[in-house]
Amino acid sequence: MLKNDMLEKWDRENFFHPSTHLADFARGDIPHRVVTGGQGCHITDREGNRLLDAFAGLYCVNVGYGRQDIAEAIAAQAKELAYYHSYVGHGTEASITLSKMILDRAPDHMSKVYFGLGGSDANETNIKLVWYYNNIMGRPEKKKIISRWRGYHGSGLVTGSLTGLELFHKKFDLPLAQILHTDAPYYYRRADGSQTEAEFTAQCVASLEEMIEREGADTIAAFIGEPVLGTGGIVPPPEGYWDAIQEVLKKHDILLIADEVVTGFGRLGTMFGSTHYGLEPDIITIAKGLTSAYAPLSGSIVSDKVWAVLEQGTDENGPIGHGWTYSAHPIGAAAGVANLKLIDELGLVQNAGETGAYLNKVMAEAVGGHAHVGEVRGEGMLCAVELVQDRDSRAAFEASEKVGPRIVAALLEQGVIARAMPQGDILGYAPPFCLTTAEADEVAGKTAKAIETVLG
Ligand SMILES: Cc1ncc(COP(=O)(O)O)c(C=O)c1O
Repeated sequence: MLKNDMLEKWDRENFFHPSTHLADFARGDIPHRVVTGGQGCHITDREGNRLLDAFAGLYCVNVGYGRQDIAEAIAAQAKELAYYHSYVGHGTEASITLSKMILDRAPDHMSKVYFGLGGSDANETNIKLVWYYNNIMGRPEKKKIISRWRGYHGSGLVTGSLTGLELFHKKFDLPLAQILHTDAPYYYRRADGSQTEAEFTAQCVASLEEMIEREGADTIAAFIGEPVLGTGGIVPPPEGYWDAIQEVLKKHDILLIADEVVTGFGRLGTMFGSTHYGLEPDIITIAKGLTSAYAPLSGSIVSDKVWAVLEQGTDENGPIGHGWTYSAHPIGAAAGVANLKLIDELGLVQNAGETGAYLNKVMAEAVGGHAHVGEVRGEGMLCAVELVQDRDSRAAFEASEKVGPRIVAALLEQGVIARAMPQGDILGYAPPFCLTTAEADEVAGKTAKAIETVLG
């Protein structure tokens, strides 16, 4: 293929890249990469590099790259009917079929799915639904939302507020007033090193209860959390966490939103993180793995309990005043149907569990003994390596040393993509579910070399 020599210039002059140091990129201090293809767990760029993508894009290309079944389903849908809206009872065979497929896979008490485009807008929908719900229930004061430090729920106004990472608030005047943050369930970073996991869980729960007491339960509408903290550091919950948190929420009639944008459709080796950890959410957020990112699509799965109130609301107030032009877009829906079929046909949920466990094991063997590796942790096809200056005190490196990003760059030199998680020196791995054990070995072995290159 002919190379357009202007691409780099055009890129630096015209393209506003998300989550990027804008000035560095404009100055040319950050390399630009033009990605041209992908197959299985690998992507290729126009310089001819072939890279093992151990983060599946942004933990979203769950079935792997180059799946012709999904591409063909998208093409067929585009040829037959690229678009029609889904307002006032309209739909397509793909969107209706997909809603049935999602509900067949979701926990039994879930009732309906509203479709959006990405995880951020789905969480935006969720907060509106929760507010509407409480207005219909005659509780107009019950509106605050509790999220967690280190949670990630998007980067819109409300969803960026829900996100509990400093970078997403700073200089954006966030978080908005009705959003509160409680403790991150991050056992490794506990203040008191002598605590057991169970004691740490009890502390998280006590701190939540204090917040509810302080604010007043009658002002708190919902609690939102990812079954496993994702962008905040890939942190599985400490022992007993979700059971204990849910008990508190039930006691105070606070709804639970499970943000399964990362964990939905198999990443933990089970179809949903909610079933994995025994969550009984009132709303589940889905995106990424719903289509494996072959087309943008997200969803809010609403429980029977919430749905009954939404129906009552429309009887009292008329049609629900919420909808996007592209809700249930037929091309996204066609991609979703083909994607979920493929996940079943190839047994990818099982592979995510099995090869994910293998990846976590070989990673722990390869790097767990290094003097600067504080913890190797994960669940299913999620894995993280946390770097520390000192293992005994768990003291972190100075952020200005950029230890995480430098190791990720050294790994990239060897042809493997991991993600330097945005807060802390944490290497993140979330490969496609089709990862083989040989590829897992490669990821772990090259990570060990990269750590050695940077830290000795
Ligand atoms: C748990 C979680 N929720 C929501 C989002 C936001 O999704 P999107 O980037 O599609 O808006 C993300 C994105 O990484 C996520 O990880």
